[in-house]
Amino acid sequence: MKIDPWKSIEVKDYSKTMKEFGIDPIATLYKNLPLKSILFSRNVIFGHKDFGKIIDAIKNKEPFVMMTGLMPSGKFHLGHKIVADIMVYFQKMGAECYIAVADIESNLTRNTNREESKKLAIDQYLINYIALGLKSKKTKFYFQSEGSIEYNNLSKYVAKRTTFNELKSIYGGLSPEKIISAFTQVADILHPQLKENGGPKPVVVPVGVDQLPHINLTRDIASRMKSEYNFILPSATFNKMLPGLKKGKMSSSDSTSYIALTDSPEEAANKIKKYAFSGGRSTIKEHREKGGNPDIDVSYKYLEMLFEPDDKKLKKIYEDYRSGALLTGELKQILIEKVQKFLKDHQKKRQKAKKQVDKFIVKTSPKKR
Ligand code: TRP
Repeated sequence: MKIDPWKSIEVKDYSKTMKEFGIDPIATLYKNLPLKSILFSRNVIFGHKDFGKIIDAIKNKEPFVMMTGLMPSGKFHLGHKIVADIMVYFQKMGAECYIAVADIESNLTRNTNREESKKLAIDQYLINYIALGLKSKKTKFYFQSEGSIEYNNLSKYVAKRTTFNELKSIYGGLSPEKIISAFTQVADILHPQLKENGGPKPVVVPVGVDQLPHINLTRDIASRMKSEYNFILPSATFNKMLPGLKKGKMSSSDSTSYIALTDSPEEAANKIKKYAFSGGRSTIKEHREKGGNPDIDVSYKYLEMLFEPDDKKLKKIYEDYRSGALLTGELKQILIEKVQKFLKDHQKKRQKAKKQVDKFIVKTSPKKR
């Protein structure tokens, strides 16, 4: 099987995917990190490539970079929050953060309007990142279309370090748009190591499994550019996708599949009541007798992946739902209260965040472009 990074995939079996694509489990490594997080302990970040380098950098207090990118599309929802939490985690660990707005890729592969996607990137993504705790110090939020000369040149010179056959075997179907997007992403991932950005250093790229082909290509190209640039092969972490409210995919084009961070607390409660897929039984009587299934219950998943940091409390919810002591309506109510409190706080923080955007955005001087 091949992964197509331009078609969203739904992973059913993570351990199978890891074996198939050479992703290593992170469980044993994360114990060496100085700050615990449910992102790791609950396996939200489930796998990695070459993450040992990053652990070493953190331990030895050496400089390292967290680099990732986003395709601006629609509203920022709870699925995006997971990625933001990961960025903030690495920033707390001392990472310098590079965040690429993939406006070139988005225009080439999804035909999005260039001005609109720039606006979305700021109104939806950046403002929410800030409100979720990203700090401007050591953050570079940049647009692919506004990168420096060196970054742009790098995106072209990588062409010499691969072949058409290699690209075909990594990506399957190709088009000029896909090739340019892939090369741009390789430059995104490698440019923090350019001389203008302080030279070679470990870089971790947190992504979903769909981005694995880009990671593999970048690592291959980086090793072939070694004599010229001395790049350290970038590391990656792989995170699970938050399931959509109705189970299945969370999709920006279906507002009943997600809770946006700008949804009102009432709206969010209604969506959970109406759409959140339940592992409960069809009658209360049956539920009390046979119990529910938290493993397939979306409200439970949201508590596990985002909203209930306390392991003991989560375990009790799990067991009570299994035994039938906790009803579906009650489980949903636990989530609703957490989500509403979060949204109220967050939406206040968004107001403050709006004033800060300029501190985050990289403006390349005309001379450097
Ligand atoms: N291709 C990524 C996506 O579809 C976006 C992206 C662009 C990216 N450049 C990147 C991700 C660099 C990680 C690193 O979401």
